[in-house]
Amino acid sequence: MKFMEAKFETKSFSKAFIGDSHYRDIFSGNPENVNYYEKTVRDTLEVITHFLQTRQNPLGDTSVHRNRNKIDHIPIDPKETISIKECLSELCDIYIDNATAFHHSSYVAHLNCPILIPTLAAEMIISSINSSMDTWDQSIGATAIELRLVEWMGKKIRYQEGFDGIFTSGGTQSNLMGLLLARDTYIKKNYDMIPDQHGLPSDAKKFRIFCSEVSHFSLSKGASILGLGKDAIVSVPVDLQYKMDLSLLEQMILEEKRQGNLPIAIIATAGTTDFGSIDPLTEIAAIAREHSIWFHVDAAYGGGLLLSRKQRTRLSGIEYSDSCTIDLHKTFFQPISASMFLMKDHRNTSFIQYYADYLNPKEQEADGIPNLVKKSIQTTRRFDALKFWFTLRTVGEDKLGNYIDEIIELSKETFHVLNNRDNFEVLNYPEISALVFRYIPKNFPDNRLTQLNQNIKKAIFESGKAMIAGTKVKNEFYLKFTLLNPMTTIEEIQKVIDLIEETGEQQSKHLI
Ligand SMILES: Cc1ncc(COP(=O)(O)O)c(C=O)c1O
Repeated sequence: MKFMEAKFETKSFSKAFIGDSHYRDIFSGNPENVNYYEKTVRDTLEVITHFLQTRQNPLGDTSVHRNRNKIDHIPIDPKETISIKECLSELCDIYIDNATAFHHSSYVAHLNCPILIPTLAAEMIISSINSSMDTWDQSIGATAIELRLVEWMGKKIRYQEGFDGIFTSGGTQSNLMGLLLARDTYIKKNYDMIPDQHGLPSDAKKFRIFCSEVSHFSLSKGASILGLGKDAIVSVPVDLQYKMDLSLLEQMILEEKRQGNLPIAIIATAGTTDFGSIDPLTEIAAIAREHSIWFHVDAAYGGGLLLSRKQRTRLSGIEYSDSCTIDLHKTFFQPISASMFLMKDHRNTSFIQYYADYLNPKEQEADGIPNLVKKSIQTTRRFDALKFWFTLRTVGEDKLGNYIDEIIELSKETFHVLNNRDNFEVLNYPEISALVFRYIPKNFPDNRLTQLNQNIKKAIFESGKAMIAGTKVKNEFYLKFTLLNPMTTIEEIQKVIDLIEETGEQQSKHLI
């Protein structure tokens, strides 16, 4: 009785506070608000079109201080709310006018791609309908679309029957899932315990995961999240092409065993973040098989090569993996976030499956109702698959494959341009579309090259005229291009290289 009264009080309080009509105006589900919805979308579209059409540079004002200052002074106060139009105009000032434009030809920095227009239509539907992929009753139709795409991708990988997979938020989550299954498969096989029930055996601190020294940091982070610690990661040196050195891999596995440690997995990278190098997948698969350990391929970057007729063979061997990561928001030109985790044997989902009475009771399975939550480490989950569905239905895999070929060609041309200029040292011939290089003016002291190239990167960023990335190789700083825009021409890249040269010339004067 007391409980009922309390409930009543809350209800009348909230109505009085919000005002009866006020709160109905704003929800998209009210048919009376269709005009408001359409106008909001039109106004927003105007702002986005302006951003896409008028951006001269990939960046606007890059000052952290000015940006934070503006935002910190905006009142977030219920008495000072503004209209959508006003909010959009304010947003241009604090965000859109300065936001990094990934579609710009002088954006050549990180693994972020320009996006395909059909995916934007999908994005609107995804958030307007707001299906949640955890259960069938919240995602009727959507679940079937996701399942179909998982099946499609598994076939592209050339997995045999029996594979499975799930859409994830990104490569970090997909890699975490790969490590999780590697860990739990090993525990189940070697210990009298059920890993998802009993936790880790005391031996877990001896578990070892082998990956190349230039693999992505998410592996180390994943090992730490999974309770194995970063020390579980064994970094295998790379050869001159930045690929995992196989003879060292074999020696290091044996050495770890000799020390009493327990190899549980090898992670190959198909497209390293800095160099785009692809580890020898078939050979690594054989080594993993020989030691009866898990083989995961991190193809977050290189996954797009699956669709290229010219480059597909570079991923040969991925079909032997126990699991793999494919990021759609990198080489499939999808908006963030969109990634896939695939596993060779669907039975491995048992390590993450969970049945909650309120959500996905086990009995439902007998009725053939699919539920994706048991394959995911998320619960509420976006219908990101729809973007990819739109892409395959309206663009098609052949065109996607051609875009990949174009960025690889552009990267090769870029290599030659850089290599033919006396003032540049290039570290790698691009296997996909990443190039690591530095500016080295004549008669400039070697020990100041790191500082010089850091200054170049910073000065160019602050000018807003281009955005290039940087990384360290053997403790020396290098500049980096990641080319993911098939619309970019070599002439446009040459302009960025000219800018680097001009900036380098100016900056070098301050350092001698
Ligand atoms: C090889 C590789 N793996 C994993 C990741 C992590 O992907 P995400 O940023 O989507 O989590 C990246 C990111 O750049 C990557 O390059």
